Amino acid sequence: MGRLVIVSNRVAVPRRGEAAAAGGLAVALKDAFSNRGGLWFGWSGNVSADPPDVVRHARRAGVDYAVIDLSQDAYDGFYAGYANSALWPMFHFRLGLLDYDCDEADCYRAVNRRYAQKLMGMLRPDDTVWVHDYQMIPLGAELRALGSRHRIGYFHHIPFPPWAVFSAMPGAEDLIRDLLAYDLVGVQTHRDLAGLADCMAQGTGMKMRAGGEVRFRGRRIRLRAFPIGIATDEFAEVAARSAGGPEAQRLVASLAGRALIIGAERLDYTKGLPERLKAFGALLNRFPEYRSKVTYLQVAARSREDVESYKGLKREIEHLAGCINGEHADADWTPVRYVGRAVPRDTLAGYYRAAQVGLVTPLRDGMNLVAKEYVAAQDPQNPGVLVLSRFAGASEEMPEALTVNPLDAVGMAEAMKAALEMPLGERQDRHGAMLRRLRENTVGGWAKAFLDVLEGHEPAEAPSRAAALAVFQARLMARNASTSSANVSEEMLGIQVADLSTARASRAR
Ligand code: G6P
Repeated sequence: MGRLVIVSNRVAVPRRGEAAAAGGLAVALKDAFSNRGGLWFGWSGNVSADPPDVVRHARRAGVDYAVIDLSQDAYDGFYAGYANSALWPMFHFRLGLLDYDCDEADCYRAVNRRYAQKLMGMLRPDDTVWVHDYQMIPLGAELRALGSRHRIGYFHHIPFPPWAVFSAMPGAEDLIRDLLAYDLVGVQTHRDLAGLADCMAQGTGMKMRAGGEVRFRGRRIRLRAFPIGIATDEFAEVAARSAGGPEAQRLVASLAGRALIIGAERLDYTKGLPERLKAFGALLNRFPEYRSKVTYLQVAARSREDVESYKGLKREIEHLAGCINGEHADADWTPVRYVGRAVPRDTLAGYYRAAQVGLVTPLRDGMNLVAKEYVAAQDPQNPGVLVLSRFAGASEEMPEALTVNPLDAVGMAEAMKAALEMPLGERQDRHGAMLRRLRENTVGGWAKAFLDVLEGHEPAEAPSRAAALAVFQARLMARNASTSSANVSEEMLGIQVADLSTARASRAR
């Protein structure tokens, strides 16, 4: 069996002596890596003035890590620019925030091309390559353009909207065609799969067949939903341990017997934090019996502060929390506790277990693992209640949560009240059903399911015509912005087919 090669935007190289980082992809890939060894390639998280092309290598617990710094220009254009100012809002249905700049779009492609060049030099013929998330969509096409015949899969961690939304992005057709370079494209939910299939059909003219695949010029590209999970039992153990630890104990003591509602996420406009604060305000206004009886703890880790659309968010949340506290607080009770920084994972797990209500109410989210972690962290004898947005991917798998529309403040306030008043038997039933499912679909199982489908697949053709075409098109469009996408597509198709038949004819000779 060949190696598993992972490409993700950020790569956290474990410290010497540590096997892997806790949480996230590192946990998902633990088993896959330990069975066959592997390579993990991506951005170090550093911006460097040095020649940014140098790949640094480290080996930890049988896994090779290869990281690269970004130059300031690449950070601005690729990361803060196209990936997080254009793709992120579009994929989260926030077209009003989509800030497209064609130089940044070029920079995004250029960074992906550079990653592909670096990676190609490190690949062995029998490696399987698994690319992660929206920062890396064109990577597969760039690898194919360099002659890669590897099995290459792509997993999209964030929502996948239908074409009516996706097509607002300039160059939408090129972006969707980039996906045709992969052998397998995975998304989180069936809703996302419907979005992806719609974009394929309308953006490329190819319909998803029964069995979840599209055929493009003799190649088969599988499209599948793989809902990501967590390391359920491990997280439950961490939570049980941490609940008895000093941080969680201090939190519980400080509540003085009041109920605790908790929310925890990155400070991101997709997470619905202002809406959630307004809903908590509505709870105290509509149901005054809860004044001085409940405390809402919001942990919000700072994120992407260089991106314009994130800049006002912190102030808005601080303002809303201040208003609620100003209106309702007593000398001995602060209704909203706002912690504006990351809290260590273990500590957070203990906090989740101490909270009677978990509020996970994003406006859109690919999956949302906080919802799953909150449930895993509960004491099964006396579990808390999850209040979950219908727009989180997790809601497809967790119908026993109290499902809310995050734009409906009163509906959310009513759900919080219902959660705080839910009888023990009902809490146990709902929690038990969700926990069972979390145990069936763990993050290790998720990685295995994806790789099983990817590796059961026949090898890709080389060079992939679809991918080469997509790359060619993108370059031509960048050069000739006035050419319409439809014309380029027809024009290029002709050139590409001609190129390939000439190549085939000369091979046959
Ligand atoms: C989301 C994305 C990831 C991303 C993470 C943190 O979960 O799906 O791809 O890495 O946010 O964002 P950041 O911009 O800090 O990497």
